[in-house]
Amino acid sequence: MGASRITAPAPGQLAFPPVIGHRGAGGCAPENTLAGLRRAAALGCRWVEFDVRLTADGELVLLHDERLERTTDGRGKVHALPLSAIRRHDAGAWFDARFAGEPVPTLAEAMALLGELGLGANIELKAERRHAVGTGAAAADLLSGLWPAQLPPPLVSSFVAPALAAARDRAPQIARGLLVRGVPGSWRRRAETLGCSTINADHRLLRPAVVAEIRRAEYPVLAYTVNDAPRACELFSWGVSAVFSDVPHMILAAIAEGPVPPEAPAAPLLSTARREARL
Ligand code: G3P
Ligand code: MG
Repeated sequence: MGASRITAPAPGQLAFPPVIGHRGAGGCAPENTLAGLRRAAALGCRWVEFDVRLTADGELVLLHDERLERTTDGRGKVHALPLSAIRRHDAGAWFDARFAGEPVPTLAEAMALLGELGLGANIELKAERRHAVGTGAAAADLLSGLWPAQLPPPLVSSFVAPALAAARDRAPQIARGLLVRGVPGSWRRRAETLGCSTINADHRLLRPAVVAEIRRAEYPVLAYTVNDAPRACELFSWGVSAVFSDVPHMILAAIAEGPVPPEAPAAPLLSTARREARL
């Protein structure tokens, strides 16, 4: 590896906008696609979250599920297929015919576009247990080598502790987020062990007391996935620093961090209920 393009943020320097586009802008464009990143930027996001997975030939692609079926017209496990096979599939038409032809992007392509759009990012590492170390190491190498210098340093997160540990061992300067569903009693020990700078949790399981406890320890709390503006405001009032949203423009409008572009849909193209049902 050459010199890293990422410098570790100084303590207290890690700052997030209040709204982070989830999977790009998953309610408004096909999740984890370049079109989704463009959409997020057009909707006023300054940061996005997306998911990455390792292919059979060691490439990192943006894809949430273990398998291709839900979000592409392909079949099979991402880890069992080479990049060339995954690239033959359409990752946009399932969401809306207007997005037909959208490919599954590589992390390298996504980073280049983030640089053009001026978008910061939380890269979530998805991996089955046995591919966790390879995924964390590959992501750390790629981010270190290609992260656009003009962007704020990225945040890498994962539910899979060995993936985060591998990223830490390979590139300790890249900030890490401890990604959990409910916040466990052991959150602080786990965050310290993995050298995490943020706690990223399911908003449905958050309570004011645990947010206050985490904030007292000076960790930002990032909450997913919040598609309801009053709920976002409630979370902010508890001390949550940022929410991940599929409909970021709706939360931004509620907190007057606009402008909301005129072409922004008033409601998600794919209803949240339908999206949840697909997961
Ligand atoms: O990183 C926050 C959130 O994306 C975690 O859940 O399933 O949407 O990747 P999921
Ligand atoms: Mg995610």
